Amino acid sequence: MSWIKEGELSLLEKFSANVLKAGPMPKHVAFIMDGNRRFAVKKQMERQEGHMQGFNKLAETLRWCKHLDIPEVTVYAFSIENFKRPKDEVDGLMELARQKFEKLLEERENLEKHGVCIRVLGDLNMLPLDLQQLIAKAVLTTSSHNKCFLNVCFAYTSRYEITNAVREMAWGVEQGLIKASDVSEALLSECLYTSNSPDPDLLIRTSGEVRLSDFLLWQTSYSCLVFQSVLWPEYSFWNLCEAILQYQINHKSIQKARDLHQEQQALHQLEADRVCVAELLQHHGNGKPADDQKRQEALQHYAACREERIQNFLEALKHKRDSYFDDLSNDAILAEEGSEK
Ligand code: FPP
Ligand code: MG
Repeated sequence: MSWIKEGELSLLEKFSANVLKAGPMPKHVAFIMDGNRRFAVKKQMERQEGHMQGFNKLAETLRWCKHLDIPEVTVYAFSIENFKRPKDEVDGLMELARQKFEKLLEERENLEKHGVCIRVLGDLNMLPLDLQQLIAKAVLTTSSHNKCFLNVCFAYTSRYEITNAVREMAWGVEQGLIKASDVSEALLSECLYTSNSPDPDLLIRTSGEVRLSDFLLWQTSYSCLVFQSVLWPEYSFWNLCEAILQYQINHKSIQKARDLHQEQQALHQLEADRVCVAELLQHHGNGKPADDQKRQEALQHYAACREERIQNFLEALKHKRDSYFDDLSNDAILAEEGSEK
């Protein structure tokens, strides 16, 4: 099964999609695709077959999202916790990922036609080296596409991601790129694996479990959370419509909470800048009080310098991440050339 499943919606599905699209639609939907093993038990099939059907359902869901004008999807494909599962299951999931990322490379023209950009979020170092290299090649292949985005969280947990972001900021301070006082909620968000995406509007978990299992904890503070009892491989277009309807019912209160949070963040930043500027003026003015105009000018200057520091730091961070992917992909090409000789 390919990553892209072609095909139109049925007439009834099309009609329902249009009715939904008359209301506010989520632009980014995240899925915890849970219930593959229970599905396998229910259908008396091998566990690995349950995971394979789980992948097929992902491809089908992406097709529905495309028809519903949802340009971004993020999925929990492999948690760091999943490494604790029996070895044969972990090996099976790694093999499935190998097959699917190889398929992705074969399908590059189709992905380009549809403008699909596939990103992998997580700590690739935890994966077998050949899979790391394959993922790096696949990610680089689609990195310039910009019509729709699929973020595959693989070797991912949210706490690990947040810890990593804090480490990146500590690195920035150590390198003298940013000051400790530049650390803020906004900067931490920029250091997460998800920095290129807006926060999800809607998060869906299947299989009846009602917890987040360390998935996108930071990013879903203002998302609509929908828990559905259906097992992931049995997920249907109608299940997705039902979840979107939940989002639409709650849209106003979510938007209000988001706006309020943004306003508060702006005020916090202003207050933090004021404290830094007051200290600087005190230091440079030998304790003499500064007048209002001088304080205002100093505040603007300080905010502009902070913004410049942060931009330089984020560029350095991007360079570090891009080089990691480039190096992995180049190593893979060299290894291939070596084996052909
Ligand atoms: C959760 O069901 C599912 C997983 C741990 C794996 C999800 C992976 C896929 C759907 C394939 C995606 C692959 C790629 C390459 C994107 P579970 O195993 O926890 O099932 P259970 O809850 O019934 O025990
Ligand atoms: Mg599960």
